[in-house]
Amino acid sequence: MTAPLVTRVSKADSAAIAEAVRVLEAGGLVAFPTETVYGLGADATNGQAVARLYEAKGRPAFNPLIAHVVGLEAARLLARFSADAARLAETFWPGPLTLVLPRTVACPVADLATAGLDSIAVRVPSHAVARAILEAFAKPVVAPSANRSGHVSPTAAAHVLADLGGRIELIVDGGATPVGVESTIVACLDEPVMLRPGGVAREAIERALAKPLAQRSAEFTRAADGAPLAPGMLVSHYAPRTPLRLDAVGVADGEALLAFGPILPDRHARAVRVLNLSQAGDLIEAAANLFSHLRALDGAGVKTIAVMPIPHHGLGEAINDRLTRAAAPR
Ligand code: TXA
Ligand code: MG
Repeated sequence: MTAPLVTRVSKADSAAIAEAVRVLEAGGLVAFPTETVYGLGADATNGQAVARLYEAKGRPAFNPLIAHVVGLEAARLLARFSADAARLAETFWPGPLTLVLPRTVACPVADLATAGLDSIAVRVPSHAVARAILEAFAKPVVAPSANRSGHVSPTAAAHVLADLGGRIELIVDGGATPVGVESTIVACLDEPVMLRPGGVAREAIERALAKPLAQRSAEFTRAADGAPLAPGMLVSHYAPRTPLRLDAVGVADGEALLAFGPILPDRHARAVRVLNLSQAGDLIEAAANLFSHLRALDGAGVKTIAVMPIPHHGLGEAINDRLTRAAAPR
């Protein structure tokens, strides 16, 4: 766990915007108002900053995050737009609509922020303070709602302070958020489908598309019976094709090793390839490396990936959650 911080609360003026940008550039965490709810922002391209964000929220799992950008042109660097997606962006951006789209090959957003998926959630907020920060920072900012995991979304700076005081560097206070509910999320991976109701009504989206939204498919549900899940779970998960062997205390011939910490297990020299999540045993660094290391070893043509035990405190709980899912038989 990281040491407690002093959380500064600054009224949203130009000095506060400049301070927010400095904090983001240094890999820190800034809460700021959007038109929907307050978001907790981090540099989307900095895996360690994103790992710190999950830790500050106390998320027991790595849900993929929304990348916030200043406009459609910036969004096109991150994601591929179908004709439907472009129509929705032109109609509702800036505003409370998030689009889930295929990631571009060159997308600079950290793997951890998209939980290793090939899709990415993108949003262009309309709130003047959010826009000023995005414009000045000039890189994508991931921002989940600025509450502790399991709490309701904050619509005032005081809510953020109550939840995240001592865990983040800065809160930019821009008053109450006008919409008060989160953005509507529509996936445009094939036919447009609503993943979360929110600030833009279904009817308005269907009018813009000139067709009804499709039913949510099994790809976005985890329950085998297709039962609706909590909003944060409406997502398919990245899963490696290579089987994982967890809590490995040794390495067999032909295996790759996903290591953690300075001391490698018995017979590690047998490993076809070794990647260490964190040589120093730092769980924040390990989280930042998790999906990219899994992908790299998955592509190494090995029969199994042996994974060393990961401590179950701090971000270790989310790392173990993801590894357990990835190891589950399919
Ligand atoms: O109004 C909002 O959208 C606020 C403000 C701060 O912008 N943000 C927000 O973020 O509500 P968050 O992290 O609380 O909710 C994001 C939702 C999660 O349910 C997540 O599972 C989903 O978006 N999501 C993100 N990326 C996804 C993806 N690639 N596929 C499917 N769902 C995704
Ligand atoms: Mg939330």
